[in-house]
Amino acid sequence: MKVVLAYSGGLDTSVILKFLQEKYGHEIITVTLNVGQRENWEELQNKAYNLGTLKHYTIDARESFVKNYAWSAVMNNALYQGSYPLATSLTRPLMAQTLVNIARREGADAVVHGCTGMGNDQIRFELGIKALAPELKIIAPVREEKFTRDWEIEYAKKHDIPVSKKIYSIDENLWGRSIEGGVLEDPKNIPPEEIFRWVSPPEKCVDIPEYVEIGFEKGIPVSINGLRMEPLTLVDNLNNLGGRHGIGIIDHIESRVVGIKSREVYEAPAATMLIRAHRELEKMVLTKRMLEFKEIVDSTWTNLVYQGLWYEPLRESLDKFTEHVEQYISGSMKLKLYKGGMHIASRYSPNSLYDKNLATYESGGLFNQEYSRGFIEIFGLESVMAYRKYRERERKNEFLQGSEYSVQEGTAG
Ligand code: ARG
Repeated sequence: MKVVLAYSGGLDTSVILKFLQEKYGHEIITVTLNVGQRENWEELQNKAYNLGTLKHYTIDARESFVKNYAWSAVMNNALYQGSYPLATSLTRPLMAQTLVNIARREGADAVVHGCTGMGNDQIRFELGIKALAPELKIIAPVREEKFTRDWEIEYAKKHDIPVSKKIYSIDENLWGRSIEGGVLEDPKNIPPEEIFRWVSPPEKCVDIPEYVEIGFEKGIPVSINGLRMEPLTLVDNLNNLGGRHGIGIIDHIESRVVGIKSREVYEAPAATMLIRAHRELEKMVLTKRMLEFKEIVDSTWTNLVYQGLWYEPLRESLDKFTEHVEQYISGSMKLKLYKGGMHIASRYSPNSLYDKNLATYESGGLFNQEYSRGFIEIFGLESVMAYRKYRERERKNEFLQGSEYSVQEGTAG
């Protein structure tokens, strides 16, 4: 059988690459997506060829990842359970799409991934592949052959597969770095400093606060400090800048789709800053009712993507709503960064609904306070009436219960 393997260069997928040839005689084509992880691409490709791949593809998907996935996450203020900016989750549908494209181009019969049966990523890959190419088989050797880490290390040694001393499970792309495992598995443990690559601890950050102004057009980040930038450059710059100021560490107990709670630590400076700035800009531009409804849309979108349901039609319907709303979200947000703290310093939008003439407490304001008396009367009419009615009933009941009690007392005596 000819199969396409999503190859990361790590232990799991390297073992799979060898194993599938050895045990089943499969012909293997390997694919690695560059989504902004720090990697030696040539070394990775050589490793794949050394382990017997027929053909290796390295695909630079960074631009598409930012424009089609990260920017949607910004527009949807995507923070799963209020915390996790979906870094890993967002790459999976793009990877599924790429694997399917290559499988078709190469006439392959199946797609192979290295996910375990305990996580979210298997769901994201497989639902993506099923939606796009139902004719392709899906092989998940780690899950199906019940690979354990010890067995993999043994196997790797036997087959000259280089094994690095890896304590943590790390997944990295330009939207964030996800870190799991090792001492983090005990939620009582404080994350050791050595796990962080992008973000400095607050005590090691510079002593001077820095302001950064992020410009948005129709919900999409377009500039930093007035300088227009390509999407990739913009995200890179914010990751560096935020990281320097200790921004973007998220220590999270996360509810996985399969019912397990896991402890994961993330580094995501750009995502953290962009989503915060974007949400604040929306508050200035959208009406109260739009904001309330958008919160529902945002969390629904985020849950769909987290759960691997990128190809669920509801996601596209929500995108249409968001696209319509976001046409107004232009302007700029200035953030103040200082030793792990991020504060909104100032805000501007040509579409702002904030009107100083209405909001001012000084004389000459446009708001007519005389109308408020009548407004309050009618606005709360039903609620006030209901409160009084219900209390009245309660008081009657209390009274009745009290008198029954005294009657019984009388009988006994
Ligand atoms: N918990 C995150 C998710 O489900 C990240 C998963 C990958 N994390 C890792 N450390 N390998 O999207």
